[in-house]
Amino acid sequence: MIFSRRTILFGVASAATGLISDKSGYAALLPNEPWWQSATGYQIYPASFFDSNGDGIGDIAGIITKLDYLKDLGIGFIWLSPVYASPMADNGYDISDYQAINPTFGTLKVMDKLIAEAKTRGIGIVMDLVVNHTSDQHPWFKAARASRTSPYRDYYLWRDQPPAKGAPEDLASTFGGPAWTRDEVAGAYYFHEFAARQPDLNWANPAMRRDIYKMMNWWLDRGIAGFRMDSIDLIGKDIAKGIVADGPNVHPYLQEMTAATQGGRDCITVGEVWSATPDNAVLYSDPARHELAMIFQFDHVTRFWDSKLGKWKSQPVDLPTLKGIFAKWQAALATKGWTALFWGNHDLPRAVSRYGDPGQYRVESAKMLATVLHLMKGTPYVFQGEEIGMTNAGFTDIKQYRDVETLNFYQIQIAGGESEADFMAGARANSRDNARTPMQWTSGRNAGFSRGRPWIGVNPNKATVNVAADRADPNGVFQRYKLLIGLRKLLPIIRRGGFRLVAAQHPSVFAYERTFGDDRLLVIANFTGKPTSLALTPNEVMTGQDILNGGTRSLGGVLNLQPYETIAVLRAYAPTPVAAPPPLR
Ligand code: GLC
Ligand code: CA
Repeated sequence: MIFSRRTILFGVASAATGLISDKSGYAALLPNEPWWQSATGYQIYPASFFDSNGDGIGDIAGIITKLDYLKDLGIGFIWLSPVYASPMADNGYDISDYQAINPTFGTLKVMDKLIAEAKTRGIGIVMDLVVNHTSDQHPWFKAARASRTSPYRDYYLWRDQPPAKGAPEDLASTFGGPAWTRDEVAGAYYFHEFAARQPDLNWANPAMRRDIYKMMNWWLDRGIAGFRMDSIDLIGKDIAKGIVADGPNVHPYLQEMTAATQGGRDCITVGEVWSATPDNAVLYSDPARHELAMIFQFDHVTRFWDSKLGKWKSQPVDLPTLKGIFAKWQAALATKGWTALFWGNHDLPRAVSRYGDPGQYRVESAKMLATVLHLMKGTPYVFQGEEIGMTNAGFTDIKQYRDVETLNFYQIQIAGGESEADFMAGARANSRDNARTPMQWTSGRNAGFSRGRPWIGVNPNKATVNVAADRADPNGVFQRYKLLIGLRKLLPIIRRGGFRLVAAQHPSVFAYERTFGDDRLLVIANFTGKPTSLALTPNEVMTGQDILNGGTRSLGGVLNLQPYETIAVLRAYAPTPVAAPPPLR
């Protein structure tokens, strides 16, 4: 029975909806439905989540103390940003030992405890797999630079002469400056797509690939639920031809990786693919090809970057364009492949600052953004703090920034004639540190994140924006996320239904329809801070269950919408399927 008078969702009282489930907390999966298509992910940036020992840096023991919080939110897995041994030139995305934990974050023993404690709460741990490059402190790189005859020399990419000017040799690093750096010890130049302290691995070397697969199996055997694969579209590069992203060998390597690591395990694998197109996304994520479970694509991010200055001078978001991008991706992966759904992560600005209103309508716009995203098809990811509507850092002084990319580009762009004020405005909008300020747990000292001095500044709005206040508010952001995460588990139409934009050209309303058999879900959101209205066509009017507020609702003719108001109405005939067992191994 999908309609009921009772107000219980997943065993938790919910004033918001009359829908009822089996209360197990697990999705009632359809035949052949992978568990990760009904689950929601939560990204933890460990340095900024919760500090258990007062050194000012978040840690694994801190995460363990917050697992009940995450269970309450209803997530199915945690994407854990890197906790491996690292000199932290790029906050852990520069790994010096894949099979050791950075002592600042904890020990292997604590890591095993996190995996086990999460599992008892039905939460999988997805490790960040950073294998496009290592740290320059990795023993492989140390051996490689020390000797031309070392077997590890060929684990990296070298050239004896400086690159010639222009394509294809003269490649630029994503973090600014040239991608080839001369190493004096090696007597040669090595390639690094990111910082000079992040040398790229040579994936053409089969021994190197075997070592990576061995390491992945070692982690899988510890009981993790899968991998988020950092910059994975770069591993098939053909550097001689100047091809870095989406190179000729990326698909064979991923197929080989799957065969060598996951055989028989129901893993989640999500690839970071900045070069994704609707065509190659199917290649990466079609289950029949055995590459990745899903990809992150960044169309909705990069479309609004400046053609010259990129993220450092982003353009306002144009709603019809944004809607077109989402519709394009929903269509591209409608029958084959799978996409992740996200507004933000540790590399991007806070969702509410970028797409909503961080001021007067912070709560309303955060809830609107959550609703519009989470009722689409795909696997949603919540970046820590998004579930309480955290905003950008608001840093005004370059000394407040910690991020290597921001600090590099500050030098480069100011040397190139950009004004300090312009650069700082760009950084305030788009620096990666916007997402990296400490999680705001309370209104107290350091937002309840740490007893010590946090490694990066706390947003002063902790006084009003914090977990303690928001989670207790039935109309807050957290309760909306919790509801949406629960609805995905309950309703196949969210997971599998067709997608069609409604009023695609409307300048301020984001509206779409999902269909699944005879069921229909209509989602309508005012994407702006001004009242607006939407005229539904005779085909579009409907009566059904108000899944956000409970009760029945009729949508007909002209709808008037308050700032950021969001409506979701479901007309369902299908019975709720029976419960399936917990997803984790
Ligand atoms: C990915 C990560 C980013 C990191 C880079 C290099 O883009 O998300 O944080 O700096 O790869 O590893
Ligand atoms: Ca700590």
